[in-house]
Amino acid sequence: APPLHDALKPLAWLLGTWRGEEGKGDYPTIKDFKYKEEVKFDHVGQPNLHLHNNSQFCSSHYETGKPLHREKGFLKIQPGTSHLALVNTQNVGIVELSEGEVKGQEIMLESHTIGRMTFGKDPAVTKIQRTFRLVDADTLEQVVHMETSATAPAQHHLSIQYKKVA
Ligand code: HEM
Repeated sequence: APPLHDALKPLAWLLGTWRGEEGKGDYPTIKDFKYKEEVKFDHVGQPNLHLHNNSQFCSSHYETGKPLHREKGFLKIQPGTSHLALVNTQNVGIVELSEGEVKGQEIMLESHTIGRMTFGKDPAVTKIQRTFRLVDADTLEQVVHMETSATAPAQHHLSIQYKKVA
């Protein structure tokens, strides 16, 4: 791989492929579920990290590993600052633009813009909040809260810890 762009040094701890087997999902309007997820952060030498995220369902389909949620995005850092942007597309038909901060080995992001297909299912997602935190050298954690057109303020949807696999 080409050398990591200097601007991305504060995010170097995210690089790699991470796999979580014990994800827990909930929301006031749905049944609790569990899920597996693989998330990968890589780069091509540009000042952005490429995020690939594949999740597998969940309660009844947990064992079959049926693909469910998928995301592809770019994490950018405002050079010389701790300010971050995530430009992310989700296979459920939404586009997420989030901003936030990196503090040590933790990232906090909140959406300021969510784009949506005209034929998306209700309720609409109206806000997404994410944190990524390095728990130890081999363990990454992601927690997601969201707000929808039917439920505000933001509430918990997802928590998962991943182990580094590559
Ligand atoms: C339901 C958004 C990631 C699994 C939902 C709902 C929304 C949503 C808006 C409907 C809630 C309602 O009916 O009130 C999101 C967003 C995500 C995300 C914005 C990422 C930022 C995931 C992931 C999984 C997942 C990674 C796990 C594989 C589910 C399940 C349901 C659900 C199982 C219930 C579906 C149903 O009962 O029909 N999600 N989700 N979601 N989500 Fe997510």
